[in-house]
Amino acid sequence: MSTDWPALRAAATAAADRAYAPYSGLRVGAAGLTDDGRIIVGANVENASFGLTLCAECGLVSALHGAGPADPSVQAGATELVAVAVVAGDGDPLLPCGRCRQLLLEAGGGSLLVDTADGPVELKVLLPAAFTTTDLAERRDQETSHDQETTREQETTREQETTREQETTRERGAQ
Ligand code: THU
Repeated sequence: MSTDWPALRAAATAAADRAYAPYSGLRVGAAGLTDDGRIIVGANVENASFGLTLCAECGLVSALHGAGPADPSVQAGATELVAVAVVAGDGDPLLPCGRCRQLLLEAGGGSLLVDTADGPVELKVLLPAAFTTTDLAERRDQETSHDQETTREQETTREQETTREQETTRERGAQ
């Protein structure tokens, strides 16, 4: 699917206009093209408690999941971003911060195209050697299978105890 970058940038600029950034004064808009051809946007939202600030890309990724797939028969969460434009209030590209590169990675993968002043760049170039879901699964699986085994053993013991108690109750009743 080819990306209409001027349209994507315009959508991001319109979102930046709606940003809530009274503390930093830096309004940011993000627009993403989905693999089913929709444009989804987000804007940064600041708070008097500065640490609570939400980047525009956070809003975009949340809106992506909130909207769900255009086709209801497509599995929820399967829709991916294919291109993203992030701009400041002046309409010029702004490179996503580190956290947002990581968020975008899980919403579009390493080949997600990100608009820059020098043209689109693949996200894997902006976030090399990233921590991914694969890393998580590889490390978590060992823990999980051990945990699952322990849980299964505990469940079996509990079931055996319950059966024994029921048998005892039945035997007493029969006497
Ligand atoms: N900001 C974004 O929205 N996205 C980024 O990738 C970088 C920073 C926002 C957060 C904050 O509201 C303002 O820009 C200044 O950091």
